[in-house]
Amino acid sequence: MLYRSFGKTNEKVSILGFGCMRLPLLPGGDSSKIDEKKAIELIRYAIDNGVNYVDTAYTYHGNSSTKGGEGEPLVAKALKDGYREKVNLATKLPSWLINQGSDMDKYLNEQLKRLETDHIDFYLIHSLNRDNWKRVKENGVDEFLDSAIKDGRIRYAGFSFHDKLKLFKEIVDYYDWSFCQIQYNYSDENFQAGTRGLKYAAQRGLGVTIMEPLRGGKLVNSLPKEARAIFDRSGFKRTPAEWGLRWVWNHPEVKVVLSGMNSMEQVKENIKTASKVEANLLTEKELKIIDQVKDVFNSKMKVNCTGCEYCMPCPSGVNIPGCFSAYNNYSIFGKGDDTYNSISSEHRASKCKECGRCESLCPQGISIRSKLKDVRYLLEKVPAL
Ligand SMILES: NC(=O)c1ccc[n+]([C@@H]2O[C@H](COP(=O)([O-])OP(=O)(O)OC[C@H]3O[C@@H](n4cnc5c(N)ncnc54)[C@H](OP(=O)(O)O)[C@@H]3O)[C@@H](O)[C@H]2O)c1
Repeated sequence: MLYRSFGKTNEKVSILGFGCMRLPLLPGGDSSKIDEKKAIELIRYAIDNGVNYVDTAYTYHGNSSTKGGEGEPLVAKALKDGYREKVNLATKLPSWLINQGSDMDKYLNEQLKRLETDHIDFYLIHSLNRDNWKRVKENGVDEFLDSAIKDGRIRYAGFSFHDKLKLFKEIVDYYDWSFCQIQYNYSDENFQAGTRGLKYAAQRGLGVTIMEPLRGGKLVNSLPKEARAIFDRSGFKRTPAEWGLRWVWNHPEVKVVLSGMNSMEQVKENIKTASKVEANLLTEKELKIIDQVKDVFNSKMKVNCTGCEYCMPCPSGVNIPGCFSAYNNYSIFGKGDDTYNSISSEHRASKCKECGRCESLCPQGISIRSKLKDVRYLLEKVPAL
């Protein structure tokens, strides 16, 4: 495992972090039913092999955007038996639930209990966009963070971000953050904070952690065959996952790349890659190959969905990420693709009642209602009302 210095903190962090948003599930696919034995095995294997950064959040693996999910309690179990002392633990304050200053203390204290620890190493204000930023700023987020650092409940303060570059810079400059988390991968170079945001934060001494380095797995599972062929013809023996992660680590400003791994094969492969990839190693030729793949991938994507499930559960029962995955797969793999058939009728796009709740929660800013109409028209042959 390779390590990098984490911005202005004195910490040395593993370049691969364990992202706990996509842990293995029990049969049935309910994201609140984690396969605990397997998840604990994966997390501990990663730590035994050098990973020293574990990232979770209040709502991960839950069935609601307003209640604590099963993610934090699972991480608490995984970090028993001496593992807690070996890692930097990161979790996130649900910014969208903050209605008054005291809410921030309330959630942090609850999270310390759920994680069975007396401190969080890296505490993030979760999913900042214009609305959530206004919400926490007006409720005194700076005073809250100062006091939580002072009394030792958190060691370092940061934020995770899903909005435009201008707002990103404004937030970076507002507080003496130690770190931040941005979405970054070869398809999203110029999306949200992007490369310019990455450099801006790093220049100001923030350690930068990366979420969705493989676009939630889409740069592996939804790679069009023309794009795969470019990798195959390149002469390099690398999987799409290795290509994707190498691209992110190639940036010296990136410190921790979080990966939401859910099988031992993924954990082993990513650890192997993280043991050999320094920054600035990719040649012009390799970067060109990735550029070509990116162009094919971006041209085929119908919806910019990463499957993070922040929009779920839908009050009308629509499986929103499933519908979009089917839509993209149809565009990428053609008419023979039967992803949509695996979604039962009560969870299909035509059940959307257009309440719009999902759109306020989507980190990618997708016009979900309108895109679901496209899905409905294309895959159910039902015209929009
Ligand atoms: N703060 C926020 O707002 C926010 C938002 C999103 C994520 N996050 C954090 O960032 C972490 C990382 O994001 P992410 O989970 O979206 O990461 P990601 O690496 O983009 O996607 C993870 C998925 O990629 C696939 N994958 C990973 N390694 C692979 C390998 N070696 N071979 C084949 N497939 C591989 C798997 O997909 P399959 O299992 O489908 O094959 C896996 O579930 C999250 O887990 C979470 O902790 C934070």
